[in-house]
Amino acid sequence: MITTCIFDAYGTLFDVASAARALGDTRPDFAPHWQRVATTWRLKQLQYTWLRRITNQHKDFWAVTQDGLDFALEESGLDDGDLRDALLALYWELAAYGEVPAMLSSLKSAGYNTGILSNGSPDMLDGAVSSAALSDVLDAVISVEDIKVYKPDMAVYQMVLDRFQCNADQVLFVSSNGWDVAGSSAFGFNTLWVNRAGEPIDRLDNGPRWVASDLTGIPALLEGLK
Ligand code: LAC
Repeated sequence: MITTCIFDAYGTLFDVASAARALGDTRPDFAPHWQRVATTWRLKQLQYTWLRRITNQHKDFWAVTQDGLDFALEESGLDDGDLRDALLALYWELAAYGEVPAMLSSLKSAGYNTGILSNGSPDMLDGAVSSAALSDVLDAVISVEDIKVYKPDMAVYQMVLDRFQCNADQVLFVSSNGWDVAGSSAFGFNTLWVNRAGEPIDRLDNGPRWVASDLTGIPALLEGLK
C-alpha cells in the first residue's frame, strides 16, 4: 500500500522556465533570447550534476545552477551582469504549477506523507517552498546536499526510506524528468512521470508505472488503488 508521496522539485512542482520567461516579459532586449537561455540553462545544470556525480566532484546545486546559466548566457552572446543577477534572483522564487497546492493539500487530508526529494540545496528549496506557500502541505524537504551526491544515484532515493521509515513499494515518486523516473523505478518506487510537454519517453530500462499530463489526478489515482 502506498503511504508516502514524494516529488521532485524543479520542473515537477516548480516551473523552472518561469524565471527566464518572467524576465523575457519585462525586458524587451531579453525577449528573443529567453527560450534558448532557459533550455540550455536547464540542460547544462543537469549535465553538470551527472558529471560531478560520476567524477566525485560534488559542488552544491546553487553553484551548478550558476555554472549552467553562465554557459547559457555565453552561448546566446549575452554578457550582462545585471541580467545574470536578475535571472538568478528569480530562481529563488519560482512559481509552483497551478494545481500543486490543492493536490498536496488533498494528499495530506487523505493521510499520506508528503515530501520533496531534490538535488536543490536546502536554502534554494526553502526559498521555493516558502514563496509558493507549500510549507504546511509538505512533511519533509529532503536535499541531496545531506549526502553530497546527485540523482539518479540510488543513495539519493534511499534517503526517502530513511526519513519515513518505509519500504520502497510504499512510495509514490513523481518526477517530470524521465531519467529521474528511470532511476527511482530501478530503486523500487512506484513512479509517475509528469509529461506536461508531450515529450517522448527516455530510452532507459525502467519506465514509469503511470504517466500524467499534470499532477491534478494523483489523489484520485491513489484512492483508486485502495
Ligand atoms: C530536482 C531536479 C532534478 O529537483 O529537478 O532534483
